[in-house]
Amino acid sequence: MTVQEIRLFGDPVLRSAALPVQTFDKELRRLVSDLTDTMLEAGGAGLAAPQLGVLLRVFTFDIDDEIGHLINPVLDLSDELQEGDEGCLSLPGLAYPTTRAMRVVAKGFNEFGEPMVVEGSEVLARCVQHETDHLDGILFVDRLDDETRKQAMKAIREAEWFGAAIPPVKVSPHPISSRWL
Ligand code: NI
Repeated sequence: MTVQEIRLFGDPVLRSAALPVQTFDKELRRLVSDLTDTMLEAGGAGLAAPQLGVLLRVFTFDIDDEIGHLINPVLDLSDELQEGDEGCLSLPGLAYPTTRAMRVVAKGFNEFGEPMVVEGSEVLARCVQHETDHLDGILFVDRLDDETRKQAMKAIREAEWFGAAIPPVKVSPHPISSRWL
C-alpha cells in the first residue's frame, strides 16, 4: 500500500492540464494503485492523478462499493442537471452546492489499455465530472455561482491548511453531507 501526499488548493499542479496516457506500462499501473490506496485511506469517493502531483489523465473512484479507474476519459453529459453538495480532497473540510449533469457516459481505457465505459447517474456522474475537471486544471469551486464562490474563497483563505509551507501528509476529512471527491 502506497499512500501519497494529496496536493492542496494553491499548489500549481492542480491548475495544470494533464497529458493523455500513451504508455500502459507497469509505472501506470503503480499510479492507479497509488491513487486507489490514497483515495481509500483518505475516505474519498474519487481521486485524480494531478492531486498526487502527476499530470496524467487518470482518475480513480469508489462509489456504491465499486472501486474503479478510468484513463483518458471522454465524457458525454446529459442535458438534465443535478444539484448537490460537492467537496474535494484538495480542499479539505469544504463542501458547496454544485450543479452537474445528471448522467454521464465516460469512455476511456483501463490500466491495461483496454477500452472501457463508465456509465452512471447522480453521485457516480458527479464524481466522473469532478475528476475529469481535475485533469483540465479545473476545481469544483470554479463551478459555483458567484455568491457561493465568494464564500468558498473566503473559507479557503481562512482554512488552517491554506498557504501552509508543508501541507499535512494525511488528510482526515469529516464529510458533512457528501463524500470528498
Ligand atoms: Ni477533487
